Amino acid sequence: MRNRLKWKEQVAFITGASSGLGRSLAIELSKRKTTLILLGRNPSSLDELKKKCTENGSASYSLRYDLTNLDSFSDVYGKIISKIKKNPTLLFNCAGYNPPGFIMDTPVNVFEENFRVNTFAPVLLIQQMLPKMLKNNFGVIVNIMSSGMYHSFPGMGSYCSSKMALAALHESLKTELDGTSVRTLYVNPGAFQSNYFQNMRPHGALQTYNFQSKVAASVKKPEIVVEKIISAIEDGGDEIDLSTWKDKIGCHLNYWMPRFIDKMIVKSNKALLEYRDKYFQRISHKKNSVGKKYQ
Ligand SMILES: NC(=O)c1ccc[n+]([C@@H]2O[C@H](COP(=O)([O-])OP(=O)(O)OC[C@H]3O[C@@H](n4cnc5c(N)ncnc54)[C@H](OP(=O)(O)O)[C@@H]3O)[C@@H](O)[C@H]2O)c1
Repeated sequence: MRNRLKWKEQVAFITGASSGLGRSLAIELSKRKTTLILLGRNPSSLDELKKKCTENGSASYSLRYDLTNLDSFSDVYGKIISKIKKNPTLLFNCAGYNPPGFIMDTPVNVFEENFRVNTFAPVLLIQQMLPKMLKNNFGVIVNIMSSGMYHSFPGMGSYCSSKMALAALHESLKTELDGTSVRTLYVNPGAFQSNYFQNMRPHGALQTYNFQSKVAASVKKPEIVVEKIISAIEDGGDEIDLSTWKDKIGCHLNYWMPRFIDKMIVKSNKALLEYRDKYFQRISHKKNSVGKKYQ
């Protein structure tokens, strides 16, 4: 199947195109002259990307849209498709973010918004594009996962649960599409360089913890992930896992020895948990309603 895919004839819909993985993917596909629909929120990044992709020879369309609002997406999508007069054949659900916070003091709406972007937007986009992909006998749906779906981490309950849910949805979709001409591609990219870490906006107690500086930055460039995604699409692959060997072993051990993995995670998050103790001691001494909340 390698090299048989006519990239020039494809229409790729990329969410999270304004930054990181989505951006690298757009640039690489523009070199192959794929038609691109680039969704993001940041107008200057989208404009700059659209210009670059157009210079590379690809028909590119930018779509400024906030995926925390899913209600008006169908209308916006309908408008852009009637303008382009082509339907997406490749869907890349790249948009995603991580709002750190302890479960006990992160507002529920933070979880809701995070799930809308990381989990429900992919569902809605699949629902919009899949019928035409099936009708036209070709399509690839690419979902971007995270190692946080193997085991959830303290302070990352929202992100990890949204990615776990996405992984489960992906599994269902994969089997639902068995025997059809539409394929799914599951991508766990492992850590890579992007704005993901600097875009973390901590909530509750973690607002004063400087969470971003405590998470390991990666040296891996997003282009490495993009190269694997393109090869998998050409080769008919359905899964890419670029997580570290530690994550992979952890994933298997979590199945067989969950208590051991819990202990390891607690150990490796010692500083975070010490901070938690100091923070809640401090606020429980305050004689105000906030303190009472945590007693
Ligand atoms: N970087 C890593 O180490 C890593 C590891 C595992 C998984 N991932 C996953 O990889 C995917 C890509 O992330 P990245 O690392 O490339 O991060 P990034 O550089 O921060 O890019 C995130 C993208 O998501 C878009 N986005 C965020 N909130 C949005 C919203 N409400 N509406 C529309 N678009 C929104 C951003 O658009 P604007 O900037 O225009 O708002 C941006 O284009 C994510 O799903 C992430 O969870 C990343």
